[in-house]
Amino acid sequence: MDTRSKGKARWIGALGLAILLVLGRKDAVAGADVASTGDSALPKTPHRLAAAGINNFFQLTGRIYSGSQPSGDAGFATLKKRGVKTIISVDGTRPDVETAARFGLRYGHIPFGYDGVLGTNAERLVKAAQVFPGAVFIHCHHGQHRGPTAAAIVCEGLEGWTAERAHAWLELAGTDTNYAGLFKVVREFHPPSGQELANVATNFPAHAKLPGLVEAMVQIDQQLDALKAIRQAGFRTPANQPDLSPAHESLLLWESFREAQRLETARKRGASFLAELAGAEANADELHRRLTELSTETTPARREVAERTFKAMGQACAACHQKHRN
Ligand code: HEC
Repeated sequence: MDTRSKGKARWIGALGLAILLVLGRKDAVAGADVASTGDSALPKTPHRLAAAGINNFFQLTGRIYSGSQPSGDAGFATLKKRGVKTIISVDGTRPDVETAARFGLRYGHIPFGYDGVLGTNAERLVKAAQVFPGAVFIHCHHGQHRGPTAAAIVCEGLEGWTAERAHAWLELAGTDTNYAGLFKVVREFHPPSGQELANVATNFPAHAKLPGLVEAMVQIDQQLDALKAIRQAGFRTPANQPDLSPAHESLLLWESFREAQRLETARKRGASFLAELAGAEANADELHRRLTELSTETTPARREVAERTFKAMGQACAACHQKHRN
């Protein structure tokens, strides 16, 4: 080899090395997205991840993840690959503890509703995330409303998140602003002190005792009462109950009927009962849309439609009770 071709060979070698370096770096960057936990190179703000078997999947911090209920083996495999060891479900359905166990994952079940009334469950969430080993995945059904709320509380309690940051996270997660209670709990949450946290019990069941149909009905009844007061006030927030927003209360009712269909005590009653519940859900959904529409512009025609939908809602309650309860 003469000097010229030696030089050329060296040049080609250098170029090859440079390409390898660039590719290697690219790999490293892409790798950051699949790295398990504790990677200081990870973006500080929550970021969305794409992975099999989990929707609305986000990494919030080095070890906190949020998303939908894992669907089948693929969902749990995704979590395992990320270094997740524990899953916290805040959903009203029984967690799939068996599939999780096959992937070496354990569940802690801390269910709460859409109204944002968490009580001691707020501290329990923080405690669970504190004592559970490895990365922690927090989920509800869709990973959009309650799961992100729970994840926000955990980050406020353990990761020094401010209320503003937690609010921005809910917006990123797509939490519906009509769930005013969820935004409120995140805004007003006071992280427990070290001593307070030390006093929280650590007996987190893998599946909590879930409310039955009777409890669901009691809640539905209260929600309809709130809507009756709203209707009395001309489908507006009643002057003496400033917390009652038509859009919010109707959304809660809709959500209750949706959740009720997943209850074991409802499923046991069979297909025709579930169909009846689905019909009531559709009615509540329409009521929500009508009341939202009415709050943007009130016309006699819109008020008339809202009135009709409200009446149909009451009839749906009575019709089902007649068939399935009385
Ligand atoms: C799909 C059928 C269905 C629909 C729709 C339905 N309910 Fe019920 N409801 C039931 C059944 C069944 C029970 C009895 C549950 C039991 O005792 O196990 C019940 C019980 C109740 C109870 C008694 C709870 C208690 O303390 O024992 C109230 C109150 C109630 N419903 C209110 C409502 C209201 C208000 C609506 C409409 C907004 C409604 N329900 C819609 C099926 C339905």
